[in-house]
Amino acid sequence: MFPFDTYPLYAGALAFVAGFGLLTFPSLFFVTAPYGRHARPGWGPTIPARWGWIIMEAPSPIGFAIVFVLFAEAWSAPQLLLAGLWQLHYLYRSFVFPFLMRGGDKRKPALTVGLAFVFNCANGGMNAFAIVALAPHLVENVWLADPRFLAGVALFFVGWSINQHADHVLRNLRAPGETGYKIPHGGLYRFVSCPNYLGEMLEWAGFAVAAWTFPGLLFALFTFANLFPRALDHHRWYREKFPDYPRERRAILPFVL
Ligand SMILES: NC(=O)c1ccc[n+]([C@@H]2O[C@H](COP(=O)([O-])OP(=O)(O)OC[C@H]3O[C@@H](n4cnc5c(N)ncnc54)[C@H](OP(=O)(O)O)[C@@H]3O)[C@@H](O)[C@H]2O)c1
Repeated sequence: MFPFDTYPLYAGALAFVAGFGLLTFPSLFFVTAPYGRHARPGWGPTIPARWGWIIMEAPSPIGFAIVFVLFAEAWSAPQLLLAGLWQLHYLYRSFVFPFLMRGGDKRKPALTVGLAFVFNCANGGMNAFAIVALAPHLVENVWLADPRFLAGVALFFVGWSINQHADHVLRNLRAPGETGYKIPHGGLYRFVSCPNYLGEMLEWAGFAVAAWTFPGLLFALFTFANLFPRALDHHRWYREKFPDYPRERRAILPFVL
C-alpha cells in the first residue's frame, strides 16, 4: 500500500523515544524542567503556556489517529478499545486541560515545547503502529478476556481517575486570575505531593499491560523517567515554601518516598 518501507520509520521512533528517556531520567536529577513553578530565565524564547500545551500534546492524538487509520485494513475490538483509551487521555490533555488551567498568562520555553512536540509525534505514531501492525494477539477478540488486558484496563482507569481528581484539586486552589501556590488537600494529597503524576504513571503502566506491546512498555518507562524526578522537585519545593507543609506527606509513593 505504501511506496516506502515503514519499518525504518518505526525503528527510528523507537530509538528516539528510548534515547530521549535514557537522557531524560538522569538529567532531571540535576536540571529541573523549566516550566510551571520551576520556570526561570535562560531557556531561550518562550510562548504562552496554554498554546505550548496544545502544540506539544496535540501530535499524540492526531499522530496516533493518522497511523491507526492508515495502517489497518480492519480493526478488532481490542485495537479499537486501546485506541479509545489513548484518545480519552490525549484529547483531554491536548484540547481541554489547557483551557481549564488557571494561573494567568504564564509562558513556557519554546525549546521544551519543541522537544515534547517531536517526542509526541514519535510516541503517538509508534504506539498506534505497534497496535495495528505488529501485535497479532490484538487482532483476536479473545484478547478481551485475557487477564493482561483486563488488569491493564482496570489499572489504566485507576490511574486516570487519580490523575483527573488530583488535577481538579490543583485547579480549584486558584480563583480565576490568581497565580500563586497553596497547599493542596484531599484525595491522595493526604499521602503524596504529586498524585497527578502518580496517576499518570499508573495509567500508562496499565496501558502497557493491556496492549502488551514494546512501545507501550517504553512509554510507561518514559513517563516514570520524566515524572518521578519532577515529583521529587515539587515535593522539595513545597517543603521549602510552606513551613506548615504536612510532614507525613511523601513525594510520589505513599508511605515510602
Ligand atoms: N506523561 C508525561 O510524561 C507527562 C509530562 C508532564 C505532565 N504530564 C501531565 O500533565 C499534567 C500537568 O502537568 P504539570 O507538570 O503542569 O503539573 P503540576 O506542576 O502539578 O501543575 C498542574 C497545574 O496546577 C497548577 N498548580 C500546581 N500546583 C499548584 C498549587 N500548589 N497551587 C496552585 N496551583 C497549582 C499549575 O500551575 P503553574 O503552571 O502555574 O505551576 C498547573 O496549572 C499532569 O496531569 C501530569 O501528569 C504528563
